[in-house]
Amino acid sequence: MSDNETIHRAAEIIREGGIVAFPTETVYGLGADAFNPLAVARVFEVKKRPSFDPLIVHVANPADVKKLVKETASNAKKLIERFWPGPLTIVLLKEENIPDIVTAGLPTLAIRMPNHPMALTLIKESKCPIAAPSANPFGYLSPTTAEHVRDQLGDQVDLILDGGPCPVGVESTIVSFLDEKPMLLRPGGVSLEEIESVIGEVGTSPSEDRPMAPGMLPKHYAPRTPIVLDWSEKSLDLYKDKNVGLLVLQEPGNHLKFRPMEILSKRGDLREAAANLFAAIRRLDVLNLDLIIATPIPEIGLGRAIMDRLRRAASKGE
Ligand code: TXA
Ligand code: MG
Repeated sequence: MSDNETIHRAAEIIREGGIVAFPTETVYGLGADAFNPLAVARVFEVKKRPSFDPLIVHVANPADVKKLVKETASNAKKLIERFWPGPLTIVLLKEENIPDIVTAGLPTLAIRMPNHPMALTLIKESKCPIAAPSANPFGYLSPTTAEHVRDQLGDQVDLILDGGPCPVGVESTIVSFLDEKPMLLRPGGVSLEEIESVIGEVGTSPSEDRPMAPGMLPKHYAPRTPIVLDWSEKSLDLYKDKNVGLLVLQEPGNHLKFRPMEILSKRGDLREAAANLFAAIRRLDVLNLDLIIATPIPEIGLGRAIMDRLRRAASKGE
């Protein structure tokens, strides 16, 4: 089948209440018709995701936002204009017709328009917004290739669309507009600096009485192999009898002798590093190492999203 025929078939499956894994510019999603609660329930089931974790609804046209939420804050409109299609999700008060299972009972809805031709064609042909989490089992790293999805969810999904590796490689940035001041719920593919250049200051620590994005649970995006993030000269000694892999931004100095090693970007480019992040961790994760040591990365631009994912991967807490 040609790509177009496969997308056509995928859209049919979505319309019939099935579930499809599809590429976006950030990571692969596992999609269902957002207005079909049974189909969405199957997504939760396949992911083994606790049902209190709400999903992002994907649209193919910014005008669709109006049909899904009560009101679009003017700052949200500005971000949509500047960054859609792209790796930015906005959270607003939802319309009554959105099934509760999509938002896990929250009065709010997370929406984004992905920047990927296959995703956009799929949504358009499905003729419905598509609710989709990342296409990984709950708590594990998001998939950035169709093969990652096949390996973990293979026979449980009705179809996997293969669009090659995801160019951005970390999930979308989530910004909430429930309060006067916009709030960053998850750093991601659009940097905080870029967002603030359009709408001014954005809050970064959600208050205790608001439900956070469950993607902010400390233990999330985690590989099976323990990750240690605080690198020091002492580590060489400390772990000398262990089977250790190394995850670094660039070629490290000679004192870092651990093999295997994954370099995220030879030229130290944070975008390239983000695009390589999850695949690199997966390659280390299948080697049965005792430990992965990740060296810290500058927290500017996409470095913020990379460090956020590394910290969660390294976290021992649930
Ligand atoms: O890049 C992405 O955003 C990818 C692709 C597939 O679009 N999707 C993704 O979905 O990362 P997921 O389900 O793995 O992560 C969505 C995050 C979760 O942490 C969830 O808690 C949060 O978005 N979220 C969803 N709806 C929300 C809401 N109404 N309020 C606050 N957080 C919400
Ligand atoms: Mg996810």
